Amino acid sequence: MKIDILTLFPDTVSAVLHESIIGRAAKKGIVEINCVQIRDFTENKQRQVDDYPYGGGFGCVMMAQPLKSCLDHVMSTAHGLRSRVIYLSPQGQPYTQETAKRLQRDYDHLVLVCGHYEGVDERFIEECVDEELSLGDFVLTGGEIAAMAVADSVCRLVPGVLADEQCYIGESHWDGLLEYPQYTRPELWEGRSVPEVLVNGDHKRIETWRRKQQLARTKEKRPDLYAAFEARDEEDRKLMRELEKEAGRKKLAGPVTYRPAAEADIPRILEIVQDARESLARFHVDQWQGPYPGAERFEEDIRLGQCFVLESAGETVGFFVLSTLPEPGYERITDGKWSAELPYCVLHRAAVAKEYRGSGASQALVRCCEAQARVCGLRCIRVDTHRKNKPMQNLLRESGFRYRGNILVDAEPGHDPHRQAFEKILKEKK
Ligand SMILES: C[S@@+](CC[C@H](N)C(=O)[O-])C[C@H]1O[C@@H](n2cnc3c(N)ncnc32)[C@H](O)[C@@H]1O
Repeated sequence: MKIDILTLFPDTVSAVLHESIIGRAAKKGIVEINCVQIRDFTENKQRQVDDYPYGGGFGCVMMAQPLKSCLDHVMSTAHGLRSRVIYLSPQGQPYTQETAKRLQRDYDHLVLVCGHYEGVDERFIEECVDEELSLGDFVLTGGEIAAMAVADSVCRLVPGVLADEQCYIGESHWDGLLEYPQYTRPELWEGRSVPEVLVNGDHKRIETWRRKQQLARTKEKRPDLYAAFEARDEEDRKLMRELEKEAGRKKLAGPVTYRPAAEADIPRILEIVQDARESLARFHVDQWQGPYPGAERFEEDIRLGQCFVLESAGETVGFFVLSTLPEPGYERITDGKWSAELPYCVLHRAAVAKEYRGSGASQALVRCCEAQARVCGLRCIRVDTHRKNKPMQNLLRESGFRYRGNILVDAEPGHDPHRQAFEKILKEKK
């Protein structure tokens, strides 16, 4: 790629473009960048390049003749090359990564013309320019900064300039999305850690996480790009559906605390149960698919002092029922066994409001449940869940619960009574 930049400030432009990555590529001969002084092509003694505008007005306009002579000179050195003459102008088409790709792909010689003052004589543009490009909807003093931006962004796409084409594939704007967030050492900085997924070495998970981050941050930071983006495959469509679902979700506005539920909490608890019921149905989990658990069940839980609501910033974000009464159904366990003979409590019914899913409220629920077990003087928590309830199983596993075997519950007629049993032994407090 050969780039000629026609400018009144060749030393400044050359100094910038002959630094770092592009400078090294120029040294290796992979790209050639020449900054040509327009003033050297004037035909007047004063080497004047501009003059007053016809019709009056402020400032001066660059004359066509020095520009044309300068252009003729660079074109005389570009025989056989696919050349493109570009005038950098606030009136041009907005410059994008797509334009950079096109210029790198379709041409091997770019002439970048930098205007100054009030601009250039319109007849030069009409006569000599193939296209006008703008760096954005604002006005610069001269075209140099825009020319450097075009030269830099085109050159880094030339094979051999960057170490690998993967360096630019997947970057912001490559396929209409912004790039995922990047992290480097140390793993913990100022109390902020690198996302866990990036340090566990599971490449498939990392790839999926990064693609979802690309979609999510484009949606958040550049809704215009997101609206125009077309999913490249089914995986993209799946991740986009997930983002839509998460869109209605809230962040926790404060720490999560818990307190015993009162009768007045029952309508909200039933609302959360109904959301959970619908979500379980979507996952084809045959749990809570009948009237259970209803208002009477919670009235009884409240009377026994075993129902608690979770709150954050004054909002009820979930509930749990922790019973200290032994569960007869847990006496017979198949495919495994309970680990301890310790007195235990049972986490019976628990759910987080749908708008707080994914906010950390579920993890807070488990922590509150553990705190309440300790209040009751118990270190062993048992819980059962439907074999298809993967979200609950994942939450339990990541919270330190262990799978112990299978049990049967008193399910309503026609519903699946099989459940997986989990247990967690809390550490003894020193
Ligand atoms: C002060 S500007 C002239 C603006 C011109 N009078 C107008 O209103 O369209 C001087 C030169 O800076 C360059 N320039 C200014 N804004 C630019 C932009 N957004 N993108 C690319 N080049 C720009 C052009 O080369 C232009 O000739």
